[in-house]
Amino acid sequence: MLDMQRIPKHVAIIMDGNGRWAKKHGVLRVAGHNAGMLAMKEIVKRSSTLGIGHLTVYAFSTENWKRSVEEVSGIFKLLVLYVEKELAELHANNVRVRILGDFSKLPKDAREAVDRALVTTENNTGLQFNIALNYGSRDEITRGVQKLASDVAEGIIKADEITEEMISKSLFTGILGIPDPDLIIRTSGEERISNFLLWQMAYSEFVFTDVLWPDFTPEEYEKCIEVFQSRDRRFGGRK
Ligand code: IPE
Ligand code: IPE
Ligand code: MG
Repeated sequence: MLDMQRIPKHVAIIMDGNGRWAKKHGVLRVAGHNAGMLAMKEIVKRSSTLGIGHLTVYAFSTENWKRSVEEVSGIFKLLVLYVEKELAELHANNVRVRILGDFSKLPKDAREAVDRALVTTENNTGLQFNIALNYGSRDEITRGVQKLASDVAEGIIKADEITEEMISKSLFTGILGIPDPDLIIRTSGEERISNFLLWQMAYSEFVFTDVLWPDFTPEEYEKCIEVFQSRDRRFGGRK
């Protein structure tokens, strides 16, 4: 049973396994991404219902550009479709959409869809739904370092005055006021991080599940949160 008093404030998900799901069902990879989008829609809804503050999903990494042009453009077309179909409901559910990553590199229609989602939901106060798009943790940290280095060069701060908090604040998450994730879930049986939230995950709990992302249901999601609730988080202290 879920303990409603101990719902994580921030859940981050590496939504993996769309390609393997497609292969298993004998369909094109992009059909796997479409199925993944439908799964994501349900997880967003359940996150709202559970009162989770932040849901962050890894939708497209800085490394995913290595994939075929067809697959990459298929993913961004699905993003446009998702916004067209779901924005009204997200807004009605008081969800605020935010983006992690440099989405200026996306195709124009995807950029416009993202802008529409950001503007429409900017005053919403319910679930904050953070979509990592063209996101890479090393890219994010590099940008932060560049910003802090230029502050030093301009004499705004001294190098030895840089604090952990300033580093956190220089990241996309810090700029948007997103707390560190309490729980990170990765589907599809892979047990790696793939350049996601490296700085922010210092004390996150990890739950890995073999379920392929398109098969990840709200029930599976609640099971992952139950596993999280069974963990003893010590943050380096003693009990
Ligand atoms: C995750 O599914 C979605 C993205 C990375 C965009 P994959 O497409 O990585 O699925 P697999 O890992 O090939 O099964
Ligand atoms: C991580 O999955 C990125 C996303 C889920 C968007 P990948 O499928 O790209 O990661 P690797 O290549 O298996 O590490
Ligand atoms: Mg994958």
